[in-house]
Amino acid sequence: MSFPENRFRRLRKTNGLRTLVTETRLHPTDFVYPIFVSEIVSEPEEIKSMPGIFNYPLGKVAAEAKRAYELGIPAVLLFGTPSKKDATGSESLKPDGIIQKAVAEIKNAVPELVVITDVCLCEYTDHGHCGIIRDADVDNDATIDLLARQALSYAEAGTDMVAPSDMMDGRVEAIRQALDYGGFESLPIMSYAAKFCSAFYGPFREAVNSAPKFGDRKTYQMDPPNAREALREIEEDMDEGADILMVKPALAYLDIINRARIQFDEPLAAYNVSGEYAMVKQMVSSGLADEKRLTLEVLTSIKRAGADIIITYHALDAARWLRE
Ligand code: PBG
Repeated sequence: MSFPENRFRRLRKTNGLRTLVTETRLHPTDFVYPIFVSEIVSEPEEIKSMPGIFNYPLGKVAAEAKRAYELGIPAVLLFGTPSKKDATGSESLKPDGIIQKAVAEIKNAVPELVVITDVCLCEYTDHGHCGIIRDADVDNDATIDLLARQALSYAEAGTDMVAPSDMMDGRVEAIRQALDYGGFESLPIMSYAAKFCSAFYGPFREAVNSAPKFGDRKTYQMDPPNAREALREIEEDMDEGADILMVKPALAYLDIINRARIQFDEPLAAYNVSGEYAMVKQMVSSGLADEKRLTLEVLTSIKRAGADIIITYHALDAARWLRE
């Protein structure tokens, strides 16, 4: 059958009909809300390129986490900025480090909220790379030892999940082993499995002052043209014991999200990154789009592509709109 028997517009006629045939529905429980906690601010400080997103000092971070929880968002993802950075990111291993303290503060205030911690060195190294430097490049195997110790330290501080974002080879296995030996065999790992070397991370690097001081991240993050390699990265992390797999960024990589969804049955997360957030905010501040419509369209596209979990700076706003 075809036109005039078939008319797609019949089911678009009213809000009720459109609602009835909606294929993809966002819900606040889809979201993970990233939160920045910093040793160098004493009051919440807005990140210039990310309107509405702040660096929080200890003592103020639990309140923000609680706002997320009260809107029905199940999890937060923490990023920390230490006051001192060095060549090996040693601040990240301290039991009284910024993330360790923030985890304790949030778990104490909102015990039901899932607290996920980003595991990486770039926020803690003075050179801004995600690992230890040897011969002007990041040394893979020395770095994964440190990442495993960092993950264990966060586990001891009470995190509910660790999320390695460094893109070293073998880091999921190293972290899994360290957690298991440390008695944390039940602590899940969300792996940034297919993380691309993207120009969309600019605002994040401003937020945590983590831009590499020399070179770039091309020797460890993935090359944007490669889709089959992304699937191999994901499979490898699954084999090494990752519990949740992530594709990052989201919008320029919806094809990767969709292929991963079709090929793998593990829970799949997508990271709607800082530059994607900033683009939306720029369009809105220029009067070129309605913020609610634009944001919900972006988030719906990520879910439609196949993500189960959307990590997004829009989480609080979107949760409010979805509850209206
Ligand atoms: C750290 C890390 C980055 C992001 C998350 N973890 C930045 C990077 O790789 O430079 C980016 C998040 C965002 O842009 O929102 N390795």
